[in-house]
Amino acid sequence: MALYAIGDFHLSFTVHKPMDVFGKEWKDHVRKLRRNWLRTVRDTDTAVLTGDHSWGRNLEECLEDLEFIEELPGRKILLRGNHDMFWDAKKTEKLNERFAGRLEFLQNNFYAYEDYALVGTKGYCDEGRDSLEQLEKLLTREEQRLRISFEAAKAAGYRKYIMFLHYPPTSIYEEESRFTRMAEEYGAKKVVYSHCHGRRRYGDSIRGNWHGIEYRLVSSDYLRFVPDRIL
Ligand SMILES: [Fe+2]
Ligand SMILES: [Fe+2]
Repeated sequence: MALYAIGDFHLSFTVHKPMDVFGKEWKDHVRKLRRNWLRTVRDTDTAVLTGDHSWGRNLEECLEDLEFIEELPGRKILLRGNHDMFWDAKKTEKLNERFAGRLEFLQNNFYAYEDYALVGTKGYCDEGRDSLEQLEKLLTREEQRLRISFEAAKAAGYRKYIMFLHYPPTSIYEEESRFTRMAEEYGAKKVVYSHCHGRRRYGDSIRGNWHGIEYRLVSSDYLRFVPDRIL
């Protein structure tokens, strides 16, 4: 039994959006993802997919992409990415009902892996696009969602946490953020995130050990499309 993570599949079986505009390593990335997953993840393993699953603009346009994920071995837990238009934040329970037994959606809840609670939210960071007011609103909302996830796990008796974000925990000019502080507050063992893809972005946030927590970037191209073992 093992826990893996990888993010930013950016599938487009229905809407056909090529990814090699983001760099030559993205050429044939779906084939690479499938091949490496089949070599790595077993049926008894758990994998967290850290968002940006599909380019589809609604659930219908994402169904083939989600089916591709469903058919991969192992238990699959999905986090929301900024491109996951099929996932209305208010309708996570509906997704969990619809995909019961096939996919699990992590938002305002948590999932157990052995004696760890897997907690998380999409997160957010300043990429220079928002007014200060808008930025504060988006950060606060994600901070609240993350706390709901931690508190749900805590109320269920969990004391060991792995924290997942889609966005990096800090923006490129920050050393810490409300997300890193919350990871420290609850004593998360690891913080796992993606979103930073393309070579120029790999160093945007924290990687390695910082304040006693291990930070891992798991964007699929950074991992050369091989799921990363977390536990
Ligand atoms: Fe992405
Ligand atoms: Fe993203």
